[in-house]
Amino acid sequence: MSSIKIQKICCIGAGYVGGPTMSVIADKCPDIQINIVDINKERINLWNSPDLNNLPIYEPGLDKIISRCRNKNLHFSTDIEKNIAKADMIFISVNTPTKTKGLGAGKASDLKWVESSARQIAKFAEGYTIIVEKSTLPIRTAETIKNILITSNQNKYKEKDSLQRFDILSNPEFLAEGSAINDLENPDRVLIGGENKKAINALKDIYLEWVDESKILSTNLWSSELSKLIANAFLAQRISSINTVSALCEQTGADISEVSLAIGSDKRIGKYFLEAGPGFGGSCFKKDILCLTYICQHYGLSQVSKYWEEVIEINNWQKKRITNLVIEKLFGTISQKKIAILGFSFKGNTNDTRESPAIDICKELLEEDCYLSIYDPKVSVKQISIDLEKPCTEPNKIINQAGKWSFSRSIMDASKNADAIIILTEWEEFKTIDWSQIAVNMRSPSWVFDTRSIADLNEAKSQGLNTWRVGNG
Ligand code: UDX
Ligand code: ADP
Repeated sequence: MSSIKIQKICCIGAGYVGGPTMSVIADKCPDIQINIVDINKERINLWNSPDLNNLPIYEPGLDKIISRCRNKNLHFSTDIEKNIAKADMIFISVNTPTKTKGLGAGKASDLKWVESSARQIAKFAEGYTIIVEKSTLPIRTAETIKNILITSNQNKYKEKDSLQRFDILSNPEFLAEGSAINDLENPDRVLIGGENKKAINALKDIYLEWVDESKILSTNLWSSELSKLIANAFLAQRISSINTVSALCEQTGADISEVSLAIGSDKRIGKYFLEAGPGFGGSCFKKDILCLTYICQHYGLSQVSKYWEEVIEINNWQKKRITNLVIEKLFGTISQKKIAILGFSFKGNTNDTRESPAIDICKELLEEDCYLSIYDPKVSVKQISIDLEKPCTEPNKIINQAGKWSFSRSIMDASKNADAIIILTEWEEFKTIDWSQIAVNMRSPSWVFDTRSIADLNEAKSQGLNTWRVGNG
């Protein structure tokens, strides 16, 4: 069987998945020309920005790869037509958020961007092309893509020819934000689902440039699509499980970090993903579980659907539990009090705020008429305004600050005259806060709520602060 050698790749979608994934492929495969295209001109301009601090996403190590590969074998452009036409392999890496209206609203994934990508491919692709699903998709999406490719009336080829011109592979991405480059360079596994062995091997050859063959799994299309949904559902389930235990620890005098260590030492359970926190965020977990429950309902598996729904319910409950607890500790009211929020992204080492627990927690606190000063090392003031659906206010400019928030540029600035600090993201700099300086900066009695078990609370306590840590009885 002669092999297909890929020379030109086009990736549709220059987001959190497409950007880092293609950068690593470009870095590892200098002989392949990679064009990442996007309809969002502003985003593409940022990817092309000479100042690497302006890249549209923050991901440790990404800037170095961009400086090595950009304009050599890695290109960012809005010219979708041309780059689809010349590609041997096209990755679909577009957003698939939960539908907000219509059939399946609130559960099903919105596939309109996938569909429009498929239509663009049908219209512009030339010759034999391998299509790779990179985005996380509901099971059997490849069938939809295939239908569009073959039957689109914009396709200049006959239906019979189209069948032979395209092969579809599923190659879900398992990278986690904040560690994306390392995850891509050292994956636990690479999953390739497909029907045509030649096409599978063409993609496999790319990964073989840096991944050991034993880590490359090939399956049928549907197993691959479903595995990605299930991997995320299992990970989210683990976090909800440990978060329920955190509440139990707080009531009983047990300590969640000790319990996590004790149970995680069992190889069958494993030590990773057992950190209690304010609830999981990120673009994938909630969306994928909702999608999973929708699929289960579609197939009449209501019991299975209910089981997974509870993972999301617990996540909501944890966020609400933390908000209520802060209010209770501050004498049952936070009206007119100032609360410093440390960390707004959904996890450390990323500027991504999608589904960040900080959003719900901050909104609930603002409802109680407190005043928030928010500090995050990477999230912009613009993004926080969008997420809270409220513009930022200038501190000191207004007299009644109830229900308002301001943007702070440092921990010190955020905590000035604050009644409480809530740590919501595990940024490195929160580990080494100098509590002696912060304590004199705050209004007494003052509280520190550490939802990530990251701060040195013994030190904070010794400086006269009241402290609370998730899962600490
Ligand atoms: C996740 C999956 O890990 C990744 O494989 C998939 O490709 C995309 O979705 P991501 O959302 O980027 O990645 O981050 P992840 O590290 O999984 O964290 C998700 C959320 O869970 C974050 O809010 C994080 O703070 C939280 N979390 C994670 C915990 O609360 N406790 C943990 O022990 C781990
Ligand atoms: P992810 O986290 O899955 O990477 P993002 O929202 O960060 O999701 O990125 C998806 C990108 O896909 C966005 O920048 C969006 O503009 C782009 N996109 C969506 N549909 C198309 C399309 N039909 N053609 C080109 N780019 C698209």
